Amino acid sequence: MRSIQAIVAIDENGAIGRQGDLLCHMPADMKHFKEVTMGHSIVMGRKTFESFPRRPLPGRQNIVITRNADWQYPGVTVAHSLEEAIAAADTDTVFIIGGAQVYAEALPLVGVLHLTLIHARWASADAFFPPLNMEEWEEVSREHHASDHRNAYEFDFITLKRRSL
Ligand SMILES: NC(=O)c1ccc[n+]([C@@H]2O[C@H](COP(=O)([O-])OP(=O)(O)OC[C@H]3O[C@@H](n4cnc5c(N)ncnc54)[C@H](OP(=O)(O)O)[C@@H]3O)[C@@H](O)[C@H]2O)c1
Repeated sequence: MRSIQAIVAIDENGAIGRQGDLLCHMPADMKHFKEVTMGHSIVMGRKTFESFPRRPLPGRQNIVITRNADWQYPGVTVAHSLEEAIAAADTDTVFIIGGAQVYAEALPLVGVLHLTLIHARWASADAFFPPLNMEEWEEVSREHHASDHRNAYEFDFITLKRRSL
């Protein structure tokens, strides 16, 4: 049975990015992202893929969605719709890793959501996670982390599961 999960870092306004990049770079969140997604298929929009300094991400099947029929990149599985991307996944657990367009389309299919809630707000943000209706989600874990010399903001790792109907 395929499990569709999403992983995202949001600020307290639900923002996820600005000017094509992340809001901030926190090594603790990068490590968490790597641990959660390693070995699984990851699905992303073409803009998110192109924002990575090193790509594709190693140890994971990188599936990139684009409307451009000619787009390709070595080591990447290309898909031209979200449905095609999920069908192309090699692993039972598939992670939706952004960005805003792809999260918005995929959220109704997502059963587990791995949120990093950054305790800050960026007025300059221009990319957002779709609003969450918390009646649809159950919080199954929350881990608080203080800021430190490498991670400039306090944050929580939160896991939400979609409530069964
Ligand atoms: N905080 C986080 O956890 C996180 C995670 C990921 C990304 N981000 C941020 O999110 C921002 C990027 O988000 P974004 O919404 O601008 O871009 P995006 O979702 O990464 O990519 C959008 C592109 O994906 C393709 N696409 C999207 N839906 C499609 C569909 N249904 N069928 C075919 N192709 C489709 C299109 O590519 P073509 O134009 O090639 O057709 C579209 O232009 C950046 O700031 C990034 O840093 C944040």
